[in-house]
Amino acid sequence: MTCHIDYNVTDFNTNYPTRSFAINHDLATHHLFTLPRLIELSQSMARDRIEYNSGDLEPGHKYEDTPKVDLPIDDTIRQIENCHAWMVIKNVEQDPEYKAFIETCLNQVADRLPAGSEPLQDMQGFIFISSANSTTPFHIDAEENFFIQIHGDKFFHVFENDDRELVSEENMEISPSKFRNMNYNKEFEDRATVYGLREGDGIFVPYMMPHWVRTGSRYSISMAITWKTPTVLRANKIRFVNAMLRKAGFPQSAPSQHAWSDGIKVAAYNSAFAVINPLRKSEWSRKLIRQLFFGRKANYYYNEKQA
Ligand SMILES: [Fe+2]
Repeated sequence: MTCHIDYNVTDFNTNYPTRSFAINHDLATHHLFTLPRLIELSQSMARDRIEYNSGDLEPGHKYEDTPKVDLPIDDTIRQIENCHAWMVIKNVEQDPEYKAFIETCLNQVADRLPAGSEPLQDMQGFIFISSANSTTPFHIDAEENFFIQIHGDKFFHVFENDDRELVSEENMEISPSKFRNMNYNKEFEDRATVYGLREGDGIFVPYMMPHWVRTGSRYSISMAITWKTPTVLRANKIRFVNAMLRKAGFPQSAPSQHAWSDGIKVAAYNSAFAVINPLRKSEWSRKLIRQLFFGRKANYYYNEKQA
């Protein structure tokens, strides 16, 4: 299998892992991204791996107010040219063909990393299928990724947030009960870098860098090929424990402020998830665990009418 993601080495060395930069790829005609293959993929995935709704949103849209699409998943993909929908198929690495694709892409990238770079671990894939003029509201993602544009046009607004003025450290804490969408203010746009993407284009999206995305006048297919370095995995564990402690009334420092307490949080996380992880293999137990630990809101993306 071929998979060629390309970038300017100087761009990479200057920006990775904290700043976005443009990339290119030769994947726009790859057979894994045809609509029939994506329908087949959607039919093989557990329901909680697919999230979809109307694409007629604003960057600051509140998740609770998101309009739904009155179609089943396969018809939404079939009618994506006209149905004003936005969809993500999550964790496509669960399909062996997509898993091989992701690993081929990222292993080729890993082979080009400078000596001493951190390994790319926990490789995953998220495929976005959206109608023309759809918006993905302002949010952050707890991993690094190469975002590749397969079909149509996309405008990717990326924001510097080193001072935490746009998304606070509290909002960067990780909890399944949180909605993905973050508070957005039009004035944020002064700090945006906007990448116009079309077939063959892409960008590197840094860990937790705020962004929102809109499609152009054609339907769009894109993929986020994601990974986590050991530094990102550790920060995620600390931010997860910080969210739990904040909920209990004990707000905590951001990762890397206090090495001793970071170590305790990582150890606590590892112990807890050694018990929980084997239970997360089936859809019903994932749903139950989310609800037990984080409340009904943690299953927010289920839309029973569409199931
Ligand atoms: Fe994202």
